[in-house]
Amino acid sequence: MTASGRGTQPTLTGRRVCLRPWRTDDADAVFAACQDPEIQRWTQVPVPYAAEHAREFVGAVAPRTWTDGGALFAVELLDGGPLVGSMGLSPPRDGVGEAGYWTAPGQRGRGLTGEALRVLSDWALDAVGVHRVELLVDPANTGSRRVAESAGFLAEGTIRQRFRFRGQPSDLVLYARLAVDRRS
Ligand SMILES: CC(C)(COP(=O)(O)OP(=O)(O)OC[C@H]1O[C@@H](n2cnc3c(N)ncnc32)[C@H](O)[C@@H]1OP(=O)(O)O)[C@@H](O)C(=O)NCCC(=O)NCCS
Repeated sequence: MTASGRGTQPTLTGRRVCLRPWRTDDADAVFAACQDPEIQRWTQVPVPYAAEHAREFVGAVAPRTWTDGGALFAVELLDGGPLVGSMGLSPPRDGVGEAGYWTAPGQRGRGLTGEALRVLSDWALDAVGVHRVELLVDPANTGSRRVAESAGFLAEGTIRQRFRFRGQPSDLVLYARLAVDRRS
């Protein structure tokens, strides 16, 4: 067991992708992906995104998230190749974890993010022991809403101006996947 008492962060396997712990040598690929305007538009990555942010993400944020009860994973194809993206679960509170993700621009449009989100949420419900995995998505982020639906998440409504995003009060659509939703 590690200091967190959770053991070693596992590698999760889907049909085409695996979700593995981040390594320090992933920093260059994270830095390159996070220059993408869509990632900077829709996620909370720092803007501008510097090499130091990527080193901090893989070297400090990811291990700390595991210690705190969540998990950040690098997504890769099972048969190798460059980084596909990032898939994470925040440290759960009251049995609820929040997922978050981005996918490198050159890896989009193949259903890999939807598959990875399904793998992550299955693991969260089965092994982490949460009863609910949530996602908060900007109503205008059509791609991410489709990813959520393709992974079996259900939209529960729009939370109006509840959170600030880059300083502005913003609407977010709340999605969730529960154990009982897993037949869908
Ligand atoms: C949103 C994002 C993760 C989608 O990644 P992706 O790998 O292209 O998604 P997938 O290929 O797994 O697509 C899953 C479904 O969404 C659909 N989809 C993906 N992007 C879409 C878009 N821009 N417009 C419409 N549909 C889209 C796919 O066609 C697919 O539909 P299907 O299940 O009917 O086949 C990616 O564009 C991204 O990283 N965006 C920036 C960061 C971001 O928005 N993160 C989420 C914050 S909540």
